[in-house]
Amino acid sequence: MKFFIDTANLAQIKEANDLGILDGVTTNPSLMAKEGIKGHDAVMQHYKTICEMVDGPVSAEVLGTTFEGIIEEGKKLVQIHKNIVVKVPMIKDGIKAIKWFTDNDIRTNCTLVFSAGQAILAAKAGASFVSPFIGRIDDSSWDGVQLIEQIVRIYNAQGFMTEVLAASIRNPLHIVRCAEAGADVCTCPLSSILGLLKHPLTDLGLEQFLKDAQAMQ
Ligand code: G3P
Repeated sequence: MKFFIDTANLAQIKEANDLGILDGVTTNPSLMAKEGIKGHDAVMQHYKTICEMVDGPVSAEVLGTTFEGIIEEGKKLVQIHKNIVVKVPMIKDGIKAIKWFTDNDIRTNCTLVFSAGQAILAAKAGASFVSPFIGRIDDSSWDGVQLIEQIVRIYNAQGFMTEVLAASIRNPLHIVRCAEAGADVCTCPLSSILGLLKHPLTDLGLEQFLKDAQAMQ
């Protein structure tokens, strides 16, 4: 399973990338706004900076909701860097646009996916990635990981090439369960990635080893 970081924060992207386990980045308008990025030029520059930091797919989301608007934005986004993947919402014009991008060799990430039916449509249109939002499903008292399992089963049964990108990850257990479910990618906040490191027995064991190492000197 590939690890993407779900943020537009450059310090966090650097920290995850320095670990050597980062395969890509996803952003969305809320994450960009959180970093105080404003205006077309600043947004484009920020995507460029991220692409220069991480050697892997960087999802940049369109703001338009019409077929023409999405295509126009997507064409500009892919000019920023070869690693840009155009993130398109799961709406009717979005599906139409994903098909157009597929036919024109432009990679896409279909976002705001909450059902298997939506994931089937995204795959039919040729999306490179599909992003089910598992944390937001959990928030409404459904099991988000069950959706990942269902989409993985459907894609395997049908031979769809779209990669299942588990998004809206909220904790390290989400990452573990998505890995078990067969997700191709998990896009996570830095805190969830770092949470994978934690175990009290590791800390206690290391403390003892260091103490015993002192006795050897
Ligand atoms: O990037 C999309 C997704 O990961 C959003 O996560 O935490 O806002 O539900 P969240």
